[in-house]
Amino acid sequence: MFLQRVVVFCALLGVSWCTEDWTFPEGFKFGAASASYQVEGGWNAKDKGENIWDRFSHAHPEIIKNSDNGDVACDSYNQWERDIEMAKELGLDFYRFSLSWSRLLPTGLDNYVSEDGTAYYNNLINGLLAAGIQPMVTLYHWDLPLPLQELGGWTNPLIADWFTDYARVAYSLFGDRVKIWLTINEPIVICDVAYNTGVLAPGIRSPEHGANICTKNVLLSHAKAYRLYDTEFRSRYHGEVSLANQLVWFEPATADDKELAEIAIENVTGRYSHPIFSKEGGWPPVIEKMMAERSKEKGYSKSVLPPFTQEEKELIRGTYDFYAMNHYTSRLIRKAKEGEHTATWYFGGFRDMNAVLSPGSDWKPTASTWFYQYPPGIRGQLVWLKEHYGDMKFMITENGLATFGGLNDQDRIDYYESYLKQLLLAIREDGVKLTHYTAWTLMDNFEWTDGYSVKYGLYEVDFEDPKRPRVPRASAHYYASIIKNHSLNVVKPKNENDRLTAREEL
Ligand code: GAL
Repeated sequence: MFLQRVVVFCALLGVSWCTEDWTFPEGFKFGAASASYQVEGGWNAKDKGENIWDRFSHAHPEIIKNSDNGDVACDSYNQWERDIEMAKELGLDFYRFSLSWSRLLPTGLDNYVSEDGTAYYNNLINGLLAAGIQPMVTLYHWDLPLPLQELGGWTNPLIADWFTDYARVAYSLFGDRVKIWLTINEPIVICDVAYNTGVLAPGIRSPEHGANICTKNVLLSHAKAYRLYDTEFRSRYHGEVSLANQLVWFEPATADDKELAEIAIENVTGRYSHPIFSKEGGWPPVIEKMMAERSKEKGYSKSVLPPFTQEEKELIRGTYDFYAMNHYTSRLIRKAKEGEHTATWYFGGFRDMNAVLSPGSDWKPTASTWFYQYPPGIRGQLVWLKEHYGDMKFMITENGLATFGGLNDQDRIDYYESYLKQLLLAIREDGVKLTHYTAWTLMDNFEWTDGYSVKYGLYEVDFEDPKRPRVPRASAHYYASIIKNHSLNVVKPKNENDRLTAREEL
């Protein structure tokens, strides 16, 4: 490549501005992600069962921007070949997507497996592999079969067995070709955010009980599905399994707030990580204590955070082959002043901390109201995980920028560059064993309560057109160029037509 020659030439001349080498380690893998409800559509195709997002979006259009829903979404149910073509155009090493539980098991249970659902995922997996792209598969990205919700969903302890039965079907059907599995995407969102706010499916508000019972059951479900892989599939298929956590990073606003920031990190990261990744297992002690005290103050005879038995602790502890981290944003945290309104936010726990959360004054806002940019947060978070849980293998399973659209997305290019630089620093300077990076997302899609109004895609999708055409943004050329060069030392496209460095790839 011309650019590489320029870098080498500069290096020979000792010109520092162009010699900084932002090359990724050999073997580092780049991918992009999507999720079933956000892209597939085909909500009632053939024998597919109804799930909680089908029901929630139909029953509560008023909660979702422009009353949008995922009935058609990007129509990936029909257009999976185009999706593979896009993954090829970008040069992805892997594509992360999720299975729709009710497309595969229309009733949610394993007595009946859909042929249509099986064929759909076989086509996608085989097509990806034929293009040299590894599938990375999430079992659950928020679309629970409705019949299971009617039995209490994630608040019914039997969910751990239903989920494990579903996992067995998925591992049996696809495990010969899928080598990286994520059991559950973002427990904190399906439990904490959903039950604290009621604005995500299943649309139930139950901050004290729903959120905490769900949290415990999700961890048990993940653990059982992991153990199942170990006992029945690992020796045959040699794959890897973990779960993907959504981690918001917290910085103390002043030197006096360090302890508070640590509690905030334990609340968001620790609750879903300590039981699995720490040596001792169980809830983070600081959170367990805080929840027990607050529950007592509120008159409960027991903590609203359900305890683990010793057997459950052992079941969950160590159920990982790597740490999968989704990361978008960060917050500053400080103690509230006398009488000051304190943070409740989407996550539980904060209302009990007497804390105020805010973005830094120079952090850029994005199209998602909750999302401010702070690139060092991604590095801080990885270092914290390494220090607390050990020197394991890490993957970034989601990271990307929200905009209101447009093909010339220079802001997204800058976002990717700044966050990827932080990851390279984490690898080089902090010794973090990061092996995979996943851009969220391959194409614009149904962004939950924001409907189609907020765009995260490398490809723009025209949702007015029944064919849902996809067009690469400037950031798609940029990402393709990074992948091709295995480096951030690439020329940035000036607009969506500028394929300067990416001409050969796209
Ligand atoms: C994540 C979620 C994705 C996507 C993204 C951007 O929390 O896993 O489905 O919506 O956020 O908001």
